[in-house]
Amino acid sequence: MSTATMLIGVAYVLSTALFILSLHWLSDPKTSRKGVMSGIVAMAIAIVATWLRPDISHHTDISRHLWVIIPIALAIWPGVWLSLVPITAVPQRTALSHAFGGLAAGLVGTAEYFYWFYHEPSSFTTFRMVAIVAEIVLGYLTFTGSLIAAAKLQEIKWIPQRPWVYPGQNIVNLLALGAAIVLGAILIVNPSADWAPYAFAAVIFLALNFGWMLVMPIGGADMPTVIAILNAYAGLSAVAMGFVLDNKLLITAGALDGSSGLILSIIMCKAMNRSFANVLFGAFGQVQQSKAGGEQKSYKADTPENAASMMEQASSVVIVPGYGMAVAQAQHRVRELYDQLTKRGVSVKFAIHPVAGRMPGHMNVLLAESEIPYSDLVDMSEINGEMGQCDVCLVLGANDVVNPAARYDKTSPIYGMPIIDADKARTVFAIKRSKNPGFAGIDNELYFLDKTWMLFGDAKAVVGELVKNLQGENGMH
Ligand code: TAP
Repeated sequence: MSTATMLIGVAYVLSTALFILSLHWLSDPKTSRKGVMSGIVAMAIAIVATWLRPDISHHTDISRHLWVIIPIALAIWPGVWLSLVPITAVPQRTALSHAFGGLAAGLVGTAEYFYWFYHEPSSFTTFRMVAIVAEIVLGYLTFTGSLIAAAKLQEIKWIPQRPWVYPGQNIVNLLALGAAIVLGAILIVNPSADWAPYAFAAVIFLALNFGWMLVMPIGGADMPTVIAILNAYAGLSAVAMGFVLDNKLLITAGALDGSSGLILSIIMCKAMNRSFANVLFGAFGQVQQSKAGGEQKSYKADTPENAASMMEQASSVVIVPGYGMAVAQAQHRVRELYDQLTKRGVSVKFAIHPVAGRMPGHMNVLLAESEIPYSDLVDMSEINGEMGQCDVCLVLGANDVVNPAARYDKTSPIYGMPIIDADKARTVFAIKRSKNPGFAGIDNELYFLDKTWMLFGDAKAVVGELVKNLQGENGMH
């Protein structure tokens, strides 16, 4: 083994270790910045080490290096642009990244196949062909599936947000996937037959179609979970690409990506009490309307002035943030509210539901941005034990994650989803703009309880009012 090859091996091991540390650090808000940095360094090491591989860098032909330099130079710009999207657009941004990852894996597999077909048919082994077929099927389906997921999340006009369903849809989808697998198996056995390139193109066609057909029937509500599943597919296609290119780093990095995507989707399914099959084939969100009939319940509205005075007199306040806080970008006002209350000796905790908002960790990211101490962000399972002693619960643009119907209403689309027990607090104030339902499209009986008072308005404006009232009080003392 030459020294160069050995050094590249060491760089690959270092890069793998950094990727693993990155995932570990990203799982805690305190270390997440370190996690991002180590991921960037790991990727930089991987690119440079691969570039320095003797079969690439010792090539005197400059055009060979241009094949590396030009794509990197071109890719930087969309990368920078994608990094600048607002935080509420991160789910669709992530979906786009998976689309690019899937497309890259698919194209590499296609290039490799045709290179071997025309120049080195002896390179075709059963193992490599299995890897190539897995790579193109997963890569291309991830590409179109992720594009549809991104379009649904971005609420693009010509892609329906609601599940797009027709009778026999699951059968048609499974037939497309089945046909791609059968054709792929035939290709594995006959990779260099005259007709094989046509079969290869047909597998690509079927995978591209299966991708969008898989995601179209899924409603916008389930898109974040679908994205995590597509992340797992993109990772698996990178693993297959690693086997095709005989690149160990690609195999380990792809496996990390694939398994973390899978674990994330399992966590999200659990937090919403849904099964994988239900997310993929359940067309959740199809019947998104409040139940008709029954007695007409009414809301009681209150003023920020009263709410501020109740909070000031409380000894314990629990704030339950939700998607509305993200939409209003109210986190900095929330910090001011936190400061006003804590300096009066009120205990203020934030109850964090695992699927509050629209992406995992959404609330943590926003609250960390406004520098709320991590120790006051309390997980759902922990805070629920304390809700009985809470004087005031402030529901801040959250809806489904505090809906008591999830506990007992078997007909509710959120039935079984663990919730934050806001209804157990002595008094509840809920900030939202209107009487519209939340994500699951259902009424929230928490808002109709005797102890609940609505503070209608934009979350940022209403919390600003609360702060102003508390500051006013302050001035008077
Ligand atoms: P939602 O149930 O979507 O409720 C958010 C509420 O915020 C709405 O009722 C809305 O009412 C209010 N709102 C919106 N903009 C506002 C603004 N500018 N100011 C004040 N209020 C505003 O949110 P949630 O309780 O966070 O629950 C999350 C939902 O998303 C769950 O159903 C969950 O299953 C689903 N989901 C989440 C994830 C992840 S990973 N987080 C993944 C998949 C699905 P108005 O329109 O009346 O203002």
